[in-house]
Amino acid sequence: MGALEGKVAVITGAGRGIGREHALLFAAEGAAVVVNDLGGDNAGEGADVGPAQEVVNEITAAGGKAAANTANIATWDGAKDLVDQAVSEFGKLDIVINNAGILRDGFIAGLEESQWDAVIAVHLKGHFNLLRHAAAYWKDQSKAGNQPNAAVVNTASASGVTVPNAGQANYGAAKAGIAALTLVAADELERYGVRVNAIAPMARTRLTLATPGMGAIFAAEVPEGEFDAFSPANISPLVAYLASDKCPITGKVFAVQGEAISELAGWHDVKTIETEGPWLIDDIAARLP
Ligand SMILES: NC(=O)c1ccc[n+]([C@@H]2O[C@H](COP(=O)([O-])OP(=O)(O)OC[C@H]3O[C@@H](n4cnc5c(N)ncnc54)[C@H](O)[C@@H]3O)[C@@H](O)[C@H]2O)c1
Repeated sequence: MGALEGKVAVITGAGRGIGREHALLFAAEGAAVVVNDLGGDNAGEGADVGPAQEVVNEITAAGGKAAANTANIATWDGAKDLVDQAVSEFGKLDIVINNAGILRDGFIAGLEESQWDAVIAVHLKGHFNLLRHAAAYWKDQSKAGNQPNAAVVNTASASGVTVPNAGQANYGAAKAGIAALTLVAADELERYGVRVNAIAPMARTRLTLATPGMGAIFAAEVPEGEFDAFSPANISPLVAYLASDKCPITGKVFAVQGEAISELAGWHDVKTIETEGPWLIDDIAARLP
C-alpha cells in the first residue's frame, strides 16, 4: 500500500519542476492530486493550462487520480477555488503542498514596486491564501466532529532562511516569512489535527537554470547510471513523508537536496546584555558590538 493511499492533496505550481515531481510521487503513492499551475513564465507573466493538464495526463495514464486547476494562487479567490475543487472532485482535502513560485530578482536600489509586489504576492500571500482557506475547511470539519488528520508542507528557500542572497530581497523576505508562517500555523492548527512543516529545496528547474551563477552548475551533464544530485525528484520523498500519516513532525523546516536532509532552526539569542533601569546610549555602544 502506498504511503498516501486514500489521501486527497492539492499541490500548487505542480505543472513543472519540483511541484511536478511531488504530484507524480503523490499519485504513485496512492493520493488523488489536484495539480495546480497557472502556467506562466519564470516572472509569473502569462497563463497556460498546458503544464497542469500534462501532469494530470501523465498521472491518469499511469493509473492514478488527478485533476487540473489553473488558479492564480496569488489571489484569495483562486486559493478558495482550489480547496473547493479538491472537495467537490475527490470528496475531501487532507494535504496542502504550497510550492508555486516565481523570481523577479534585482538589487534593492533599483528594484521596482512591481517586482517586490509580484514576488511577495505569489510566495508569501500565495502560501497564506491556500493555508487560510484549507484551515477554514479543516476547522469546520473538526467542529463537525470529523477531526482531520491533515498536513501542510510549505516551500521556503535557503535564500532568506540560511543565506542572505544579494539581488533577492523580495524573494528572501518572502521565503523567511514563509518559514515564520509555518511555525505559527503549526501552533494554531494542531487543535484541528493539522501538521505544518516547510522545506528549503535545491534542484535543477527552470528557476535555478535562470539564476545567475547557478545555471552552469545545475545544467552539468550527469553520466548515465550515476546519481543525479540536482534532480528535482530528489526533493519529493521528504515532502511525501511529511504529508503522510507516518510522520509525527510539525513546526519544522528542513533543507533538502540530493542525498541530504537537514533540520534547520531559526532566530535565537546569541548574546544578551542587561542593565538596571533605563538604558544609556553610551552604555549600549560600549557593550553591544
Ligand atoms: N529549484 C530550486 O533549487 C529551489 C530552491 C529554493 C526554493 N525553491 C522553491 O521551490 C518552488 C518550486 O520552484 P521550481 O524550482 O520547481 O520552479 P518552476 O518554475 O519549475 O516551478 C514553479 C511552478 O509554479 C507555477 N506558478 C508560478 N506562479 C504561480 C501562481 N501564481 N499560481 C499557480 N502557479 C504558479 C509556475 O507556472 C511553475 O510551473 C518555488 O517555491 C521555489 O521558490 C526552488
